[in-house]
Amino acid sequence: MKEPENEWSRRSWKVFPGGCLGEYNLPQELSIVLTRGQGARVYDTTGKEFIDFTMGWGSVILGHSHPGITEAVKKQAEQGSNFSYVSGPALELAEELVRAVPCAEKVRFCASGTEATMYAVRFARAFKRRDKIVKFEGAYHGANEFGAISLFPQELVDFPTPKPTSAGITEVARDDVLIAPFNDLEMTTRIIEENASKIAAVIVEPLHRCTTPLEGFLEGLREVTQKHDILLVFDECVTGFRLAYGGAQEYYGVIPDLAALGKALGGGYPVGAVVGRADILDLCNEADLGQERYVWFASTLGGNPVTAAASLATLDELRKPGTYKRLFAMGEKLRKGFRSILSELGIVAQVLGDGPLCALVFTGEKVVDYRTAFNADREKARAFTLGLFRNGIFLNPMSTKLYFSLAHGDEEIDTIHAVARKVLKEIF
Ligand SMILES: Cc1ncc(COP(=O)(O)O)c(C=O)c1O
Repeated sequence: MKEPENEWSRRSWKVFPGGCLGEYNLPQELSIVLTRGQGARVYDTTGKEFIDFTMGWGSVILGHSHPGITEAVKKQAEQGSNFSYVSGPALELAEELVRAVPCAEKVRFCASGTEATMYAVRFARAFKRRDKIVKFEGAYHGANEFGAISLFPQELVDFPTPKPTSAGITEVARDDVLIAPFNDLEMTTRIIEENASKIAAVIVEPLHRCTTPLEGFLEGLREVTQKHDILLVFDECVTGFRLAYGGAQEYYGVIPDLAALGKALGGGYPVGAVVGRADILDLCNEADLGQERYVWFASTLGGNPVTAAASLATLDELRKPGTYKRLFAMGEKLRKGFRSILSELGIVAQVLGDGPLCALVFTGEKVVDYRTAFNADREKARAFTLGLFRNGIFLNPMSTKLYFSLAHGDEEIDTIHAVARKVLKEIF
């Protein structure tokens, strides 16, 4: 492996495992250290400019250094950064979440999506007094115990057997997770029916990574969970405020009992929230400490006023007329352009996604779940993402999921298409 050329990158490799903050897996010679971001672009210590198609893993939906957010953060920082107690901005934000998100009657803040899904599942287990949850193979719900189970299974075992993707997960944690195939309502229903008395919740990312739900799948999940008195949890860390202002539940018209929020909600600042039915959220009322169903939920930075100010500024922008029309038009242009380049070059691949989300999978099979993407050409996918990176597109080389922002426009999308055409020609 070649050493990185510049001193910043060498230092980064010395102190960070893999030379990164996590999940970037760039070869040493390509690794960089960033100094700033502006709009749709980021810049490294050598001054090199990249068009950003990761956007802080989707957290920076308005674009880097958005003036409205910067102003709100500066103003709040002068008034105090953290109280670990209700502040004006935190209250206003919670009230806005209740207005915006269909299932939200009450709100608890934390500081990341990993925590939000973890707490949502804890609420469900406490509420139903049952331990097991159903998750879909290949789903990411953050780095918590169940999020790291059957995330990238390298061996396809029979459903509902779980396969940890990370070491360090106890057998107990593993055995409380039942794995189902996304978009297969029949198999999922069978798994639920065979274990109904032990299942607290089904957790699903309604747009599963970038795989769209087949017609009737989410509705079917809602029906079967209701029939068996099981909670339905939507992980809306990605879809929240992205597929619609009210998230996937507004977009698909299926209302869960609980939802986990993160990413775009914070406008690039650390955020997480569990929202949902009041009778479930109320289990974490500290006055009930010692009660059988009391849920411990504590977060030093959850609801901090600086994040809340950034969130409020973000939501102000997202509420402006035409926002989602624009995000969806850009997403459509991005996907359409890739499809036409692939067909022009005779390359077989699937272009997945909906709204402002897009991913490329190099397979001839129609992708509906983890298994239909399992035999995709991962070497070509890696060569493709690294090729994009080498040519000035900043993205997570571990996946081809692309995030963009309201600061992106035709120029950025035309550029990624031109670069993709060049790179695809080189590697196929
Ligand atoms: C669907 C989904 N849920 C949860 C998370 C975890 O969020 P965080 O990284 O803020 O902990 C992610 C992160 O990528 C995600 O994509």
